[in-house]
Amino acid sequence: MPVGLFDTRTPLEPLHTEILAAITAVVDDSRFILGPNVSAFEQEFAAYLGAGHAVGVANGTDAITIALRAMGVGPGDEVVVPSFTFYASAEAIPPTGATPVFCDIDLDTFCVTADTVRAALTPRTKAVIVVHLFGNVAPVAEIEALGVPVLEDAAQSAGSRSHAGRPGSLGTAATFSFFPSKNLGGFGDGGAVTTNDAELADRVRMLRFHGSRDKVTYDHIGYNSRLDELQAAILRVELPHLDAWADGRRSAGEHYAAAGLGELVALPVPVAGADPAWHLYVVRDPDADELAQALSAAGIGNKAYYRVPIHRQTAMSAYRGALELPATEEAARTHLAIPMSAVLNPVQAVEVVEAVRAARGGRRPAAVASAG
Ligand SMILES: Cc1ncc(COP(=O)(O)O)c(C=O)c1O
Repeated sequence: MPVGLFDTRTPLEPLHTEILAAITAVVDDSRFILGPNVSAFEQEFAAYLGAGHAVGVANGTDAITIALRAMGVGPGDEVVVPSFTFYASAEAIPPTGATPVFCDIDLDTFCVTADTVRAALTPRTKAVIVVHLFGNVAPVAEIEALGVPVLEDAAQSAGSRSHAGRPGSLGTAATFSFFPSKNLGGFGDGGAVTTNDAELADRVRMLRFHGSRDKVTYDHIGYNSRLDELQAAILRVELPHLDAWADGRRSAGEHYAAAGLGELVALPVPVAGADPAWHLYVVRDPDADELAQALSAAGIGNKAYYRVPIHRQTAMSAYRGALELPATEEAARTHLAIPMSAVLNPVQAVEVVEAVRAARGGRRPAAVASAG
């Protein structure tokens, strides 16, 4: 049986009636922009995260630009960001006027560390974007201890936990994406900025609304970037199920380990103290493209998301910098996402692992064994 790379449909099936009722209620109410569902979702999401404030915005990319500006980032500043992440983590920096400075990651966790960030700091560094990649939880406190404000890019880590709290509550501010395939996904674009700082939240509220409080007087050059009411109504139905879905993602990782996947490829490693709700399950293999072809032929979904890391993308050529990023290059070359969802069951996990075993002739290649 084929196993898809992800499954967003099955977890939502039991919620169909409730979601349709929520949509109908918004249509009947006719308040489509910044209505009662957006405010209620903001409160419910902040409470879920253990953060003081959540502000809904149009998508996870705007969330980063707006959060950086609310943190005071502007022209002449540098923002440290990993290169091994989705392009938007870095793309959101130049619109603030600041310069992205790319840092390396830890190969086992795919996340930045205090050491990789330290190597990229200069007197012009105004903030660090710490990406909780694939659902892992990067070590925010260790990076804050370097004396630089942290913006968490938590787009991929809704539902994850760490001993310090949930992603979204750990840094100066955090950003989320509610893109449909995310751990908490809407039926279109959506995002949020979260923070424990009331004044920062207030600046985000103004920036998402043309830099204004009332659309009569304008204090900043802002954005038209709101979470819309229909998405908020849908996300409110989903939020109470996020923890159960996150548990499903954790279990899926355990099913893979139990089926022996770690004997064949390098598995993703949780950061110390983290309990990831895997958004993507990303393994490493020295012949990742060959493995991808074999899995596709066997009907197993797979994808190399970041084969070209951001600092090598054409649009970022002006920001390439002089830092060597060896773990980034290695991760880019060897990573491969295999099926992951809230409902991936043990039978499917065994099918995936057997397809990997067949592709690998039953042996874990030596190069991965020594790296992992
Ligand atoms: C790590 C990361 N950052 C930022 C984003 C941007 O979010 P959006 O697509 O909602 O703009 C995404 C998702 O797409 C992401 O995965």
